[in-house]
Amino acid sequence: MKYIYMDHAATTPVDPKVMAAMTEFFDKKYGNPGSIHKIGQEAKTALNDSRNKIAKFLGVKENEIIFTSGGTESDNIALKGIAFANNDKGKHIITSKIEHHAVLHPCEWLEKHGFSVTYLSVDKHGLVNPKDVDNAIRKDTILVSIMHANNEIGTIEPIEEISKICKRHGVYFHTDAVQTFGHIPIDIKNIDLLSVSAHKLYGPKGVGLLFVRDGVKIEPVLHGGGQENGMRSGTENIAGIVGFAKAVELAKDNIKSEMKRLTALRDKLIRGVLQIPDCWLNGHPEKRLPGNANFSFKYIEGESLVLYLDMNGIAASTGSACSTKSLKPSHVLSAIGLSHEEAHGSLRLALGRHNTDEDVDYVLKVLPGIVSNLRKMSPLGK
Ligand SMILES: Cc1ncc(COP(=O)(O)O)c(C=O)c1O
Repeated sequence: MKYIYMDHAATTPVDPKVMAAMTEFFDKKYGNPGSIHKIGQEAKTALNDSRNKIAKFLGVKENEIIFTSGGTESDNIALKGIAFANNDKGKHIITSKIEHHAVLHPCEWLEKHGFSVTYLSVDKHGLVNPKDVDNAIRKDTILVSIMHANNEIGTIEPIEEISKICKRHGVYFHTDAVQTFGHIPIDIKNIDLLSVSAHKLYGPKGVGLLFVRDGVKIEPVLHGGGQENGMRSGTENIAGIVGFAKAVELAKDNIKSEMKRLTALRDKLIRGVLQIPDCWLNGHPEKRLPGNANFSFKYIEGESLVLYLDMNGIAASTGSACSTKSLKPSHVLSAIGLSHEEAHGSLRLALGRHNTDEDVDYVLKVLPGIVSNLRKMSPLGK
């Protein structure tokens, strides 16, 4: 049976060209870039070249890129690093209720350490209103952190407008661009800090970056050997960074065509799924990631749907209980106004580079039957 992967928002397969680029940095060019001998300097050259490629792609300076272990670490450095470097100016941070836990949990931790955080509500499509950001900024606000696009419902936030508001107020603006980097264009002009992860872009897991604009006052979170300009100590993950740069190179030339292709596939998928009775699309109808489709089905549970889809050769995900190892439904679906029951019946299909028209046809062929069978068994009614 063919296995169709439609969970690209969780992670992506490593591109074979990325794997090929990485291999020699495990067994041949395995040096530590901090060593002055030839093999160390080879690694240093690879590190510099990778940084150069990624900086060019983002349109930023090389020294503004800090390599990290991924999105979670980048978000942690951004929030804690800004908080501790600027607490003489103020202790107030603004974020939204639908951020990834890699932002929300550091915010909660900072609250325990004397900072105050405003968690902005979103509308029914998951959009943050820039006016709400404007109104929430106070004299003691030091940072606004709003994600570029949401990982569950795919809504793309108005970060250009929000970043301009922050600039006008002299408040740092951070965005978690883990779901968008290399997938849709990013206007970096008014952004002070930006988080990226390589494994959402056909690169390896365990590597990412934090962009920190020159002049931004920030403290490191990891202290040690002083790598990454003292901002992220620890021997650099050279193979991972080389793979990351290769993944960026591969994405670069195809962003526009891939956006177009995925948007068409996604819209076909959405049209087809919405033929099923008692279901709806979560997230914004147009301002959404090209590969993201998120639905709620009445009377059934998302995790049963995911298990039955898996048995039929389709990998998908849900924001409901079992998948997240908690009894609470997704905080994102709750924030857009879904009840517990509605949030529990959610399904995310996240399309990617290898998905085809036939894959979408197959999902549309099997999903209605699975939904109907689960509803027959459901204790939730219908
Ligand atoms: C929006 C967002 N932020 C942060 C992360 C965490 O990234 P990483 O897995 O690289 O730590 C993810 C991963 O799911 C994400 O989707």
